[in-house]
Amino acid sequence: MIYSRIAGTGRYLPEKTLTNADLENMVETSDEWIQTRTGIRQRHVASEDELTSDLCVEAAKAALDSADVTAEDIDAIFVGTTSPDLIFPNIATIIQHKMGIPACPCYATEAACTGFVYAISAADKFIRCGDLKNVLVIGAEIITKLIDWNDRDTCVLFGDGAGAVVLQPSDEPGIISTHLGADGEYKELLYYPVGVSNDLAAAGLGDSRIMMSGNDVFKVAVKTLSSIAQEALDANGLTIDDLDWLIPHQANLRIIQATAKRVGLSMDKVVQTVQIHGNTSAASIPLALDVAVRDGRIKPGQLLLFDAFGGGFTWGSVLLRF
Ligand code: UT7
Repeated sequence: MIYSRIAGTGRYLPEKTLTNADLENMVETSDEWIQTRTGIRQRHVASEDELTSDLCVEAAKAALDSADVTAEDIDAIFVGTTSPDLIFPNIATIIQHKMGIPACPCYATEAACTGFVYAISAADKFIRCGDLKNVLVIGAEIITKLIDWNDRDTCVLFGDGAGAVVLQPSDEPGIISTHLGADGEYKELLYYPVGVSNDLAAAGLGDSRIMMSGNDVFKVAVKTLSSIAQEALDANGLTIDDLDWLIPHQANLRIIQATAKRVGLSMDKVVQTVQIHGNTSAASIPLALDVAVRDGRIKPGQLLLFDAFGGGFTWGSVLLRF
């Protein structure tokens, strides 16, 4: 039996940070409101000339180094993002070219904040089939370029970044199981109103913004994140006590706390980066993973659970041994 396992991780965050104090000078808000309602203290914001693929390349280089492989070894790229450089070609092909990775399948997945979990689940299936040996999987966003900086409901929440992993075949898991889902019924609660076949002319005119019913999204997020965490454990005959680390999507500290409470997990076992990264959408889980791997909290052999939820709604959990 072939499994896939994470052989290396990496991350990249744009240099510029935006603090809550900075936002106090931009909209009618306060550090106190933002921290109390979201836990966020700061977020990273890409510069004008930075592209999502640039963030991906830096995160990917770090992941390749930690997996001790080179660009020539990579035989497929999977990227989860909602903020690609261009409509086409897809961002994975741009990354392939920038990194000098030989010709290979290049996939881009658009599943909002669940993008990385969708991407790693697909990559896992290819490796299990025996088709691929060194797969680069990235979650990345420059979501701040979709932000209306006058809209205090959303502008305080989001940040930019990229996280990457190298997946390799292994005789033992590695990834134990993945559990994906989506329900388009909830589109109206969280969406961006411009696309190729819908009002493309409005793009770039600055009159579009992320549409979000925060309260409703909050409630469905907590319910879904806790039920898919439990689903992954149940599917493998495990309990929450078996888990070493929960790595949830980092949208709001209160969502994370409520999810942990519902599944009966102490916050000591939850990797939290929302305070310093904000909501980086598809990048949030691989960013948090890399932070906790590099600071020594996550150790080889430990049982991890990725738990994601985003616009669509889309959702997914991944149970794995690191
Ligand atoms: O990535 C996955 C998708 N996104 C999410 O998961 C986000 C889910 N939702 C949330 O995180 C929270 O609902 C928010 C952080 C967006 C909002 O927190 P909330 O506790 O649900 O606040 P609220 O929307 O109920 O707003 C409470 C008050 C309102 O004022 P009134 O009507 O009570 O007078 C808002 O106008 O807070 C006001 N408000 C603000 N005040 C200061 C909203 N945004 C701000 C702000 N600063 N930035």
